[in-house]
Amino acid sequence: MKIAIIGTGYVGLVTGTCLAEAGHEVVCVDCDAEKIAMLEAGGMPIYEPGLEELVRGNRDAGRLRFTTSTPEAVHASQIVFIAVPTPPLPDGSVDLSFIERVAREVAANLTGYRIVVDKSTVPVRTGQKVAETIKRYCRTPVEFDVVSNPEFLREGSAVEDFLRPDRIVVGVSSPRPVSAMRQVYAPFDAPIVVTDIQSAELIKHAANSFLALKISYINALSVICEASHADVQDVANGIGMDRRIGRQFLDASLGFGGSCFPKDLSAFIKIAEQLGYDFALLREVQRINAQQLDRFFRKIVDTLWVIKDKQIGILGLAFKENTDDVRMSPAIELCRRLQAEGARLRVHDPKAMDKARALLPDVTYVAHQDDVAEGCDALVLATEWSQFKQLDLAKACRVMTCPILFDGRNLFDKNEMEHLGFIYKSIGR
Ligand code: UDX
Repeated sequence: MKIAIIGTGYVGLVTGTCLAEAGHEVVCVDCDAEKIAMLEAGGMPIYEPGLEELVRGNRDAGRLRFTTSTPEAVHASQIVFIAVPTPPLPDGSVDLSFIERVAREVAANLTGYRIVVDKSTVPVRTGQKVAETIKRYCRTPVEFDVVSNPEFLREGSAVEDFLRPDRIVVGVSSPRPVSAMRQVYAPFDAPIVVTDIQSAELIKHAANSFLALKISYINALSVICEASHADVQDVANGIGMDRRIGRQFLDASLGFGGSCFPKDLSAFIKIAEQLGYDFALLREVQRINAQQLDRFFRKIVDTLWVIKDKQIGILGLAFKENTDDVRMSPAIELCRRLQAEGARLRVHDPKAMDKARALLPDVTYVAHQDDVAEGCDALVLATEWSQFKQLDLAKACRVMTCPILFDGRNLFDKNEMEHLGFIYKSIGR
């Protein structure tokens, strides 16, 4: 099928590339001419495992191209996906101005029937507004359908998630666009859940909030475990083996971050409020998450006693592994708090150091993970990069002023660390 993707950011680029990989003819649009030029020249604006190869392969095969022209893309396509940002506003609600602008641009260029698909994460009832806007701004009366098709991509495994989804959600207000949407996703081996538009929109916020709730639940349990000398990993394994619960998203940590969970939680709380419901459960999820970072920070302060002039090594800056994204990263927030107390920081992240520089200018960036510990009074593991398991910890222990290891992700084995000579502090163990 001929597909246009308006918005070549994280979601748009992954969606466009994977739909091209599935055999469709895709044009990705962005108003950022520099980004489009970079993609045309073979560069990548983001890091995402496997994406670069797929972009190259599909561009070379002629199935994927890039443009700054929305009119050209709309004319050339049967289906137009909207994948523009929906950033948070100061009160937690969602800024829908990019979506509204695209709806007007699409409307102005409609010359025949098109399916307009919303991929961006939006509040329930946005689809209805998009349809009203398109109708209002059409130059001549043209038929169209609006569809909600939320994405469930995780950063770091977005390509894999797109190519092998658990389910595909398609929200429609009439049966007409269903067969075309089935055709778009026919190459993917996943059940297609067809709902009304509002339900599809809600599924996205409900799924992310539930996953965040799961993490806050295990983080709350980690506090109980510490107080009762239990081990939160054993508890997570024990409850996770119940298939009704499942083991995923039960890893206690210094808190969740990223561009999705914090934003989507705030948005969902606001949406509920506007619909007349106080979603206190989700406010508690936020509170537990904030408390988790506070507790980890206090653990460091209590152990080191005085932070001022201490040299602290930080392993990990990204909000999770396999990404260079530092937005709302608990690791960055922790660094800022330690700096505010007067600590000197030596930091390393396998992918996120470039992006971190703007947020953390006054720290020492260390090129190799095994060199971070040099001369440090403590080492803090803040992101769950699996390559940190290969750290030369015997060397770290030797070169540190004082071998204290704070593990904010429970990556290491407590007994092994103590055997190596570390004072080892983790989460809920
Ligand atoms: C999330 C959703 O998983 C995805 O479906 C949606 O489309 C976008 O939001 P993402 O933000 O990329 O994806 O990250 P995810 O892998 O879900 O992790 C979110 C945060 O939770 C990270 O900071 C991670 O470190 C943390 N986390 C995750 C935990 O602290 N414990 C866990 O058990 C799992």
